[in-house]
Amino acid sequence: MQSNQLRGNNGPRIKSNNISSKDYESITVKKLTPVIGAEIFDIDLSKPLSSIQEHEIQRAFAENQVIFFRNQIITKQNHLDLGRLFGPLHIHPAAPHVEGIPEMMQIYADQHSPRANGEVWHSDVSCDLEPPMGTMLQIIQCPPHGGDTLFSSMYAAYDALSDRMKIYLRGLTALHDGEPVYRGLYKNFGVKDKETYPHAEHPVIRTHPVTGKNALYVNKGFTTKIIGVPLDESDGILSYLFEHMENPLFQCRFRWEENSIAFWDNRCVQHRAMWDYWPNTRVGNRVTISGDKPFFNDSAP
Ligand code: SIN
Repeated sequence: MQSNQLRGNNGPRIKSNNISSKDYESITVKKLTPVIGAEIFDIDLSKPLSSIQEHEIQRAFAENQVIFFRNQIITKQNHLDLGRLFGPLHIHPAAPHVEGIPEMMQIYADQHSPRANGEVWHSDVSCDLEPPMGTMLQIIQCPPHGGDTLFSSMYAAYDALSDRMKIYLRGLTALHDGEPVYRGLYKNFGVKDKETYPHAEHPVIRTHPVTGKNALYVNKGFTTKIIGVPLDESDGILSYLFEHMENPLFQCRFRWEENSIAFWDNRCVQHRAMWDYWPNTRVGNRVTISGDKPFFNDSAP
């Protein structure tokens, strides 16, 4: 993908060359958009994966940033095992979990809910010093309509910035703060607040440790300020970046069915869940896979 002018007659804003050159052998991969997202077919995640299946899922994940599976009848243990294929599981600092399984967060909203998860664009728990690398969500009860989740590619958002903006942002860091997000957030589930919640400083441009590509790494959910610049400047830049990353050109939208699974890469993707299905109920289980400390490599593309 290459950057282009915001407006004008120089052709499309982004030109994606993210088309895989090699076919897959053990799974079928159908892209949702040229930029982000793919559905994976011909795989049963309740069965142990062969090494080629595992390798090709890793590849599809790296190539598409978020991958989707449909009609997967899996147990909670299958779900945990699947997550662990990609690394140790992360425990959410605030959210309620499935009884007896701290690594499995509950996603639940019904007619009595005061809120639903994920209604602001974010990257999961980016306030952690080592934020989760990926999230695997299964929706087990769907509303009749709505409840989609939107995903936005932060590679595409970074690529589409002007060269001048990229230069300005290179090397800057920003504060990601869990305190204003999590305090009191889950009281309707009977969750008592912790004394403190995590906060961390991360590079504004993050280099992906697997693909080596740069991604925009600030989000409306957690990022409160850019370090080392006046607050009014930080507010202005963040507000521009938050608006920029919402461009539908960088997005795909997933329509859930019962027993669908989405697996997204928090290092290069933000997501936003739609609570447009009230008073209906939507229920899911989520595991997140631990990640590493974000870094910026000045020579990354
Ligand atoms: C979240 O993990 O932020 C919620 C996503 C969803 O419910 O679709």
